[in-house]
Amino acid sequence: MIRLKSLTMIDTNFDKNHIWHPYTSMQNPLPVYPVAKADGIYIELEDGRRLIDGMASWWCMIHGYNRPELNQALSTQLGKMAHVMFGGLTHEPAIELAKLLVQITPPSLQKVFISDSGSVAVEVAIKMAKQYWINQGQQTRNKILSLRGAYHGDTFAAMSVCDPVTGMHQLFEGSMPLNYFAERPVCRFGEPCREEDLSNIRSLLKTHKHEIAALILEPIVQGAGGMWFYSAEYLIKVRALCDEYDILLIADEIATGFGRTGLMFACEHANIAADILCLGKALTGGYMSLAATLCNEKVSDGISKDSGVFMHGPTFMGNPLACATAIASINLLLNSPWQDRVANIEQQLSKELKACIESKAVNEVRTLGAIGVVEMKEAIDLKLAQEFFVSKGIWIRPFGKLLYTMPPYIINKKELNQLTQAIVEFTKLEA
Ligand SMILES: Cc1ncc(COP(=O)(O)O)c(C=O)c1O
Repeated sequence: MIRLKSLTMIDTNFDKNHIWHPYTSMQNPLPVYPVAKADGIYIELEDGRRLIDGMASWWCMIHGYNRPELNQALSTQLGKMAHVMFGGLTHEPAIELAKLLVQITPPSLQKVFISDSGSVAVEVAIKMAKQYWINQGQQTRNKILSLRGAYHGDTFAAMSVCDPVTGMHQLFEGSMPLNYFAERPVCRFGEPCREEDLSNIRSLLKTHKHEIAALILEPIVQGAGGMWFYSAEYLIKVRALCDEYDILLIADEIATGFGRTGLMFACEHANIAADILCLGKALTGGYMSLAATLCNEKVSDGISKDSGVFMHGPTFMGNPLACATAIASINLLLNSPWQDRVANIEQQLSKELKACIESKAVNEVRTLGAIGVVEMKEAIDLKLAQEFFVSKGIWIRPFGKLLYTMPPYIINKKELNQLTQAIVEFTKLEA
């Protein structure tokens, strides 16, 4: 039964007048829903309504909320040390986390830079690539080759490798680094990649090789730039092209890492290793802001030779609370049947979301791992969609034409069914 409280304790009026929310205007902000607490896969609103979180809080809350194992790791670490600067000092949580990351990623990735958020991990990766070439005496190799449809974050270097049309290039024209963009991979996941699918990327590499430091991509799944799943063969061939043209490959697994696509890392679908790998989001099971950029010894030696130092050092680098939580989260994942859970979610999503295609408003339905996407023909009204889903006990936040879910891996069959039925119903209303 829904328990409605008469008085709101959370000062949403202050929120409306003073607090920026993501991508909003301070003059005409969209409504925000006050949350009292969250537990398991449920977000509980202040008025008592409980919502199944179909977003895993922007894809990071893979184990659900209020996990005893993560709470314990955090409070144990809190009793020892909340934070200490990382310049000149080190500590067990950072060392143990780095050990784990080195263990679960490809053997070539041996060096770990721990930072605060996904966008910063991408900044660090881009800086690593550029510093690598500077230290080889090739300063002109300072551009990044990215893909259309990409999303890599909101800081300046990260924005500069996001899709040039749907990203923020126009808005910040003149103040953003200029990079090169190849077409979005057209070959889909599970399909072969033909030679012509790579002709654009090959010709950009041929023409601009001496200006390009690295190629950056989100392996297998382009996330916030379009929820697009592409061929593993494309990834294999792009890795080979990077080798052929001596370009570093940066894999941004901030969204795909830690099992989301059915394998621990999306690069495993192609059995390739990047030169630089970005991790974030689910790294701490969604508890704390933390990210990591790993690189191979070609990159670290290239930067470090002749007394070179890598020029980055955030205040909260290697924060012990976040590192301790990340260790607990990775161990929790490794000790859980996550492959089965993600496979079951994939199966159920593809079976139950199929019904959406009957709606005239729907363009396409696609699923991969614990990701279900319904692409509409027209842009979705965010406010109306959120009202609808909240009324159904669901938390989903569509963008553009895309209605999608990336639930916590612990979601059960019944809860996932409630989620997919609400999505199907929404698509019918839109028709
Ligand atoms: C692939 C990818 N890279 C980078 C980012 C940026 O991460 P953050 O929002 O933690 O800065 C995101 C966020 O959605 C992402 O999906």
